[in-house]
Amino acid sequence: MVQKLPDHILHNLPRHLAIIMDGNGRWAKKRFLPRIIGHRQGAKTVKEIVTAARRWGIRYLTLYAFSKENWSRPKEEVDALMDLLSEYLQRELDELLGNKIRLRAIGDIEDLPPRVRTILFDTMNRTSKNYEMQLILALSYGGRAEIARAAKRLSLDVLQGKLRPDDVNENTFKSYLYTSDVPDPDLIIRTSGEMRLSNFLLYQAAYSELYITDTLWPDFNENELLKALEDYSRRERRFGKTSEQIVLKCTGNES
Ligand code: IPE
Ligand code: IPE
Ligand code: MG
Repeated sequence: MVQKLPDHILHNLPRHLAIIMDGNGRWAKKRFLPRIIGHRQGAKTVKEIVTAARRWGIRYLTLYAFSKENWSRPKEEVDALMDLLSEYLQRELDELLGNKIRLRAIGDIEDLPPRVRTILFDTMNRTSKNYEMQLILALSYGGRAEIARAAKRLSLDVLQGKLRPDDVNENTFKSYLYTSDVPDPDLIIRTSGEMRLSNFLLYQAAYSELYITDTLWPDFNENELLKALEDYSRRERRFGKTSEQIVLKCTGNES
């Protein structure tokens, strides 16, 4: 276990880390086990990564736990994932409270089975005053659906005269997203090697750094996270500027 972070990583930590937790099925398949065992193992990784992120001072951690598209998986798998989610929330409540972690959810929460929704809302309420870290679960989440929902809510406000079309810009649009009060992810990690976003945080990922590892989610751990953070700490985020401009800014010589 890595207790302390090296200084160069500590000083370049992502404020918001988002993770596409992929590969539970492949992990199980490699062992001739049912997919659900992979998901169960994946839940253990969630615990380890939340603990490490909290200890290292990451302020926002978003985990892609269930996509809108995942509803089309076999019913037994969907049911098992919903059970795992409820179990996780119930089991981890004390840990979240003790570590002052606020739990939030983004996505079409109303799609979740009522029993899961109840536990989720309860966990969100009970942790709502926590301030050390926000743990944001993307559940029944789709980036395109989020953008369409924002457009719908925005147009209603325009119709009702609360917003003028001239005032619609990137910032006002952002205020209609689930993540209106959350900074964009600085780093997005995807496990299991797939080179795609799979409909995750499409609007927010505009300038996120991407880190893709072949490691399957159940095998991902604190050390793997450290590797990703180390890699991220060496990136030069230019946001369209030239490298020279960034170097000048760091040395305080920018005009
Ligand atoms: C990620 O693992 C978990 C969810 C999407 C819910 P997968 O279940 O997608 O694992 P693979 O991609 O089949 O290996
Ligand atoms: C992305 O994984 C969604 C989650 C991690 C929850 P998938 O396994 O569903 O992605 P695709 O279908 O391979 O793109
Ligand atoms: Mg997958």
